[in-house]
Amino acid sequence: MPKTTTRREFILKSIGYSLASLIPHSLMARMPEFVRSKFNADSTAEEVTAGLDLSDKTVLVTGANSGLGYETMRVLALRGAHVLAAARNMEKAAKAAASVIGNVTPIVCELTDFESVVNCAKSVEKHSLGKPLDVLICNAGIMGGSDLQTVNGLEKQFVVNYLGHFLLAQRLLPRLKAAPQGRLVMVSSGLYTKAPDTGIEFDNLSGKKSYDRFTAYGQSKLAMALFAAEFSQRFSGESVTANALYPGVIQTNLFRNMPWYVKLGFTVGGWAFLKSVEEGAATQCYVASHPSLANVSGHFFADCNPIVLEGPHMSDRELAKNLWRVSLELTESYLN
Ligand SMILES: NC(=O)c1ccc[n+]([C@@H]2O[C@H](COP(=O)([O-])OP(=O)(O)OC[C@H]3O[C@@H](n4cnc5c(N)ncnc54)[C@H](OP(=O)(O)O)[C@@H]3O)[C@@H](O)[C@H]2O)c1
Repeated sequence: MPKTTTRREFILKSIGYSLASLIPHSLMARMPEFVRSKFNADSTAEEVTAGLDLSDKTVLVTGANSGLGYETMRVLALRGAHVLAAARNMEKAAKAAASVIGNVTPIVCELTDFESVVNCAKSVEKHSLGKPLDVLICNAGIMGGSDLQTVNGLEKQFVVNYLGHFLLAQRLLPRLKAAPQGRLVMVSSGLYTKAPDTGIEFDNLSGKKSYDRFTAYGQSKLAMALFAAEFSQRFSGESVTANALYPGVIQTNLFRNMPWYVKLGFTVGGWAFLKSVEEGAATQCYVASHPSLANVSGHFFADCNPIVLEGPHMSDRELAKNLWRVSLELTESYLN
């Protein structure tokens, strides 16, 4: 069946807005035919979860105080889930949790601080009241500035976007495995295409040899997708799944470090070619909750449908295995 042209695609094609280059065309490329949903780029988080009763689910969302994480928390709580809303401090988490309807518990997770990540995992044990964790949505993220920033000798975007979440997932794995069908949802980006030629620069994780903010952001987001791919291999046949996704381009605080003209472009042109926050949160809510995805693992989603990423890295099993091994080494002292 031919794909319907959406409002956004129409506008994109019509006005050829230069910022559309942020949306990699490879994402629109080949789509596997399985698990196709009726949803598309215009679907909202409320629409993709309509009719679902999540009252037996416990869900942890990182970065729940802002942007896509906030909308994800709001909508999953609206559908009855007990949402553990993680933010960098309790003030932000409590404010976000108190502002939505439903069963939401604020918790702290500062991803640059691995003690905080470990404490977050411990809080999950405490607040989930003996229940398993059904879903971990690794949503928090940053887009770096033009100057290199490091955390314990590692480039900051790699730590916040990927490595902190890797540690959180490892610590929570037993609770996810205890769920009838645990899910790990890794929020990646279309800018995975900006990753270095080698995919992950293992000899430059500090960023000291060379640093470009988009390359480093792309590397961290490729790492999220490689995590899901490798996880699905390692835990194949088990009830716990991992998938990655691209939410689209949405005007949020993510772009706070961008130059003024990019921010102006978003503000002026946003209504026409960007997704709303409600639409941007749809894919992660769909991947986190839709019953049709119970056995789907290791895939990459955009606009609530699986897509096949182009480029050499996603099919590079050695790269994914190396990343897993190096990530274990880098987080070793916090794993148990
Ligand atoms: N917006 C887009 O167009 C777009 C496109 C592709 C992918 N994404 C991805 O979508 C996810 C959500 O981003 P967003 O657009 O909703 O941006 P956002 O509004 O800036 O939200 C990012 C969240 O991450 C949190 N965060 C930042 N640094 C953190 C740290 N060190 N430890 C713990 N949490 C931290 C932020 O907390 P504070 O508020 O305290 O800083 C905030 O809650 C990110 O992973 C982003 O890369 C977004």
